[in-house]
Amino acid sequence: MRLLVTGGAGFIGANFVHQTVADRPDVQVTVLDALTYAGNRASLAPVADRIDFVHGDVTDAALVDRLVAGSDAVVHFAAESHNDNSLTDPWPFVHTNIVGTVTLLQAVRAHDVRYHHISTDEVYGDLALDDPDRFTETTAYNPSSPYSASKASSDMLVRAWARSYGVRATLSNCSNNYGPYQHVEKFIPRQITNLLDGVRPKLYGQGRNVRDWIHVDDHNRAVWTILDRGRLGQTYLIGADGEVDNRTVVAMLLEIFGHDPQDFDFVADRPGHDLRYAIDSTLLRTELGWQPTYRDFRTGLEATVAWYRDHEHWWRPTKSATEAGYARTGQ
Ligand code: NAD
Ligand code: DAU
Repeated sequence: MRLLVTGGAGFIGANFVHQTVADRPDVQVTVLDALTYAGNRASLAPVADRIDFVHGDVTDAALVDRLVAGSDAVVHFAAESHNDNSLTDPWPFVHTNIVGTVTLLQAVRAHDVRYHHISTDEVYGDLALDDPDRFTETTAYNPSSPYSASKASSDMLVRAWARSYGVRATLSNCSNNYGPYQHVEKFIPRQITNLLDGVRPKLYGQGRNVRDWIHVDDHNRAVWTILDRGRLGQTYLIGADGEVDNRTVVAMLLEIFGHDPQDFDFVADRPGHDLRYAIDSTLLRTELGWQPTYRDFRTGLEATVAWYRDHEHWWRPTKSATEAGYARTGQ
């Protein structure tokens, strides 16, 4: 199989490429990545001699058409992915997440190539802390931020291309990922690298917001499960029953580092900050037989701390510019 992976130099995409190279020697991987501030060639260094890398943009129609024509399947990870950035400047989110998805859809339509679309649980908006319901494949779309609205738009476009043009597409909407190679702008790597630098963790607002954490390897195994056995046109929600509030995540990190549990700061909240995400992944589990392998969040967090401790050369070059950006918004 010739597989085109967009965004393969980003967090989830790079982990997906590592997993694919390790588990599926019959798959020829080509990565298409624009190497934005979030992309990093070093994340692909361990597999550099096993893949093809193309430095390019998913909105470049001629390039995308040529790469798709030479592929049997596409997994589309490339995106602007950070909510806080989308509040400061929404335009790259509209361009990459919406125009980029249409560009890929036109190419897979022209060449009848199988397509899998990577999306987020944020398209469903948020839940009250005490809401007994969780998101399912039939929950109404209700995005809050420019990022989640751009991802919701991209999902709608995929559904339209599947229905009207018969594009062979599947979609997945996953909850918050953690693990190695995640940019230091994101919550968990930011706090780990702050602690490694002797800086107190920073909680937005009151720290009550809940995220449904899943290890990136479990997300990527689910993506392969859907590529292998998913029904065309179907959306699958991916989640590992990992609801934890932000205060508890910071408390766990402080404990892992041997610090006082009060050794953190509250900072300015995110405008429009979603309160709680929670995924019901029954469809994926019952229809396709997927199960998460990381069942204890604390153990996965310890492994992630160890990875950042051992890979300072990977994260250090991006740390000070990221913190300078947060300082400008009081976060
Ligand atoms: P990331 O920001 O770490 O990586 C994004 C990658 O896309 C980078 O390598 C970047 O260089 C590349 N890219 C950006 N714009 C591009 C363009 N115009 N052309 C080509 N490449 C471009 O993101 P991530 O956290 O790995 O997320 C990957 C996908 O998974 C996204 O679609 C995101 O919406 C989705 N997702 C993320 C999470 C999460 O918790 N991180 C959860 C659910 C879904
Ligand atoms: O739910 C899936 C989504 O998860 C993905 O679609 C996004 O691409 C991904 O970035 C992530 O979005 P979040 O906004 O949930 O992730 P983030 O890491 O930015 O923040 C997680 C929570 O932590 C959120 O409630 C905000 C809070 N936070 C974040 C930072 C950076 C803090 O309290 N302090 C911080 O310093």
